[in-house]
Amino acid sequence: MIRRILTYPDPILKQQASEVPNIDGALVSAIDDMVETMYHAPGIGLAAPQIGLSHRVIVLDVDPENNGKNLLKIINPVIAETAGDILWEEGCLSVIDYTAEVQRAAQVLVRGWTPEGKEIGIEADDLLAVALQHEIDHLDGTLFLDRLSRLKRDLYKRRLKKLEREGRDPPPRRVMI
Ligand code: CO
Repeated sequence: MIRRILTYPDPILKQQASEVPNIDGALVSAIDDMVETMYHAPGIGLAAPQIGLSHRVIVLDVDPENNGKNLLKIINPVIAETAGDILWEEGCLSVIDYTAEVQRAAQVLVRGWTPEGKEIGIEADDLLAVALQHEIDHLDGTLFLDRLSRLKRDLYKRRLKKLEREGRDPPPRRVMI
């Protein structure tokens, strides 16, 4: 089922999500909804809080042309190691009409669990490393906006107000995490 994606400044996006204590049918079906919602958006990553669920779960597919071959579903993801720095132009399904360069670690090792209960470790660089950090940030109530200078963030707030005031549809979204 495709779920509605919450957008900034929805307060749920600011909340710390809870660890998943055990994997049950309800969780697995919520994860399926996340995958469907991510592909439909379209986006290359989605975190549970973006559809209003306060669970530490993320889904990603940085290669969506490949029919789900590179789809990742990660429960309780943790960044175990990082190396280097990278600047990447990020957007977010929860941040309407805005992208900005964000500094992240260039490489990460993320540990977590699959919906089948298998422990996994994912080594990533480039876009996947950026996307993993972006999604895990969502679980801690952090948007990429929070990683920008205050000036840039304030500019975005003003732009959003203007969009609301004018009551027109926002322009189409670009690649969104
Ligand atoms: Co996002």
